[in-house]
Amino acid sequence: MTKFNRYLITAALPYANGPVHIGHLAGCYLPADIYVRYLRAKKADVKFVCGTDEHGVPITIKAMKEGITPQDVVDKYHKIIGDSFAAMGISFDIFARTSAPIHHKTSQDFFLKMYNDGLFEEKESEQYFDPEKQMFLADRYIVGTCPNCGNDKAYGDQCERCGRTLSPDELINPHSALSNAPLVKKTTKHWYMPLQNYEPWLREYIIEGHKEWKNNVYGQCKSWLDSGLQSRAMTRDSNWGIKVPLADAEGKVLYVWFDAPIGYISATKELTENWADYWCKDDTKLVHFIGKDNIVFHCIIFPAMLKAHGGFVVPDNVPANEFLNIEGEKVSTSRNWAVWVNDYIQDFPDQQDVLRYVLCATAPETKDNDFTWKDFQDRNNNELVAVFGNFVNRTMVLMHKLCGGKVPPLHEEFMEDMDREMLKEFGLAKEKIENSIENYRFREALSEVIEFARKGNQYLQKSEPWILSSVLEKIKSGEPNTKHPQYEGKSEAYLQARIDISMHICLQMTANLAIFANPFLPFTTKKICHMLKVVDRMLEWDNAGSATLLSVGYTLRGPELLFKKVEDEEVTAQVKKLHDGLKQAMEAAAAAAPAQVEETPVAPAKPEIQYDDFAKLDLRVGTILQAEKVAKADKLLKLLVDIGTEQRTVVSGIAMHFAPEDIIGKQVTLVANLAPRKMRGIESQGMILMAEDNGKLVFVNPAEAVKPGSGVN
Ligand code: 2FM
Ligand code: ZN
Repeated sequence: MTKFNRYLITAALPYANGPVHIGHLAGCYLPADIYVRYLRAKKADVKFVCGTDEHGVPITIKAMKEGITPQDVVDKYHKIIGDSFAAMGISFDIFARTSAPIHHKTSQDFFLKMYNDGLFEEKESEQYFDPEKQMFLADRYIVGTCPNCGNDKAYGDQCERCGRTLSPDELINPHSALSNAPLVKKTTKHWYMPLQNYEPWLREYIIEGHKEWKNNVYGQCKSWLDSGLQSRAMTRDSNWGIKVPLADAEGKVLYVWFDAPIGYISATKELTENWADYWCKDDTKLVHFIGKDNIVFHCIIFPAMLKAHGGFVVPDNVPANEFLNIEGEKVSTSRNWAVWVNDYIQDFPDQQDVLRYVLCATAPETKDNDFTWKDFQDRNNNELVAVFGNFVNRTMVLMHKLCGGKVPPLHEEFMEDMDREMLKEFGLAKEKIENSIENYRFREALSEVIEFARKGNQYLQKSEPWILSSVLEKIKSGEPNTKHPQYEGKSEAYLQARIDISMHICLQMTANLAIFANPFLPFTTKKICHMLKVVDRMLEWDNAGSATLLSVGYTLRGPELLFKKVEDEEVTAQVKKLHDGLKQAMEAAAAAAPAQVEETPVAPAKPEIQYDDFAKLDLRVGTILQAEKVAKADKLLKLLVDIGTEQRTVVSGIAMHFAPEDIIGKQVTLVANLAPRKMRGIESQGMILMAEDNGKLVFVNPAEAVKPGSGVN
């Protein structure tokens, strides 16, 4: 087992083609930051590098959409993304850019070394060429009809309607997205890396050598290796990117997935002149934090590149997370179904730690997970406010009230089992948190932090210093203690000592909480340190578990609230914002591409039926009287519909499309004789007819208002 003397931690370089959303944070930036803050607290030699990925098709597509140059795109989003990370306390040592000259040079040198060592295959192949624009087209710039669903705006790499992965050759009628021209095939030369040559080494490195990697990561690597690796082109035809540094390579650039991971190296170079220590010495632990869509690049292709080039360490771990969904739906930047980090910072200023907390507590560490604003509220109110904040606040308020604002002594001779048990927890909590963080189980680690605060509350409740104090007051004033027989006959010295012990232990716990919480909730930790009047040095991990962090007699500052409740209205406003954003994006897409909307193929006809089949349906017009969300069912609304003769309860899967308050009073068509069905414990007495247009739902209702109950024939 190697002993590591330094750490190099990377977080995936986000494409500079849009702001970051909370799925990005939860996927890799937050876990990486927690890990790094923990390592720094351990006084490890650590560098944390990131930056924007500024090449490749994602950038040129965005430029095309916004009608600006790729350079404008990357300049704009490098700043927006960097600002969001900084505001959220993501503490990179450097946030670099792959457009930096040092990166271009590092990538070209890397390529040249492999080229000169004869490690590329030069191959010619036929690729789609746009004769009007006189250029080869990346798969994304090729559009045609999807062979699977008939969408005539499918891309050369994927159909966004049915989700199928495609290659340009599968498209029916492929043409250029840039000029609309039909495409021709032309021969072009590229440099391929024969990944299959590295397969034995990769098996040894991953399958034998890193059985401890997370199941999702290890499993994906194994399945890639088992299905056989192939040569992969490391260059592209494009005018945006890093030029291939060869004489016969006009119009060719490095493949973005060749240059982007080298960005970790060039960022380290930009950060420190000792960069080679971090990249070339065996006792460096290199860890890549990424999302699951990047696994193959970080576990197979980049390690193979590092091995091929030679002289570099390879990743010791790649703790990739799965995806975070929002309110039950996959994040979609094109549909604007996302919670943008810059929006969050505006809407919840000074509440970065709440988001950090919720995203870590629900992080998709082993499977996709769901973020909901209700859960955000519950976790804030029930865990941060009611447990963590409450413990620290009670401790600080009581300490000022009962101990005159000074750390009281411990009085060993009056200590009881509950005190000793509580003190034991300090070390145990430290061990558990440390173990979980070191194994990349950040959710588990965070729940131990909260558990520690919960124990603090229980201890405070049991040791009841406020009762001890009122008994003491009584005795001092000569009154009999009738209310609290458990302290019958106790001396003043005993009572005072018990108050001191309780408060002393709670204060030392608060100091420990600051150390434990620091990697996760750095803003909160700062506030605690301010109250405790301690400097950052106290936060060193070596101090965790100690019961003597605060000296007896030390004067502390007054209490300061750490968290505040999230109100129902804030939750409603955020959910509405999501739906409004989706609606706007859909409208904008429809306005931008009217042809697409009109040309969307309709569902194929169903088999013919007889009039009698149709006549069996009892269709009636109804008016929606009430509408509300169904608890714990993101897609369902519970409606009360007036159909003249009676009112029907109907559960309808339309919650992602309509806000309840917007549909009250609307007329709808109800299938009134459909057998009742229970959904989420509610009996649904009918079904509402909806027209579906490209994912958008519209009520089917009469052209003019009619009496509720009117039949539809
Ligand atoms: O998926 C992405 O957003 C890529 N830009 C990640 C690159 S990670 C690294 F290789 F740079
Ligand atoms: Zn399709």
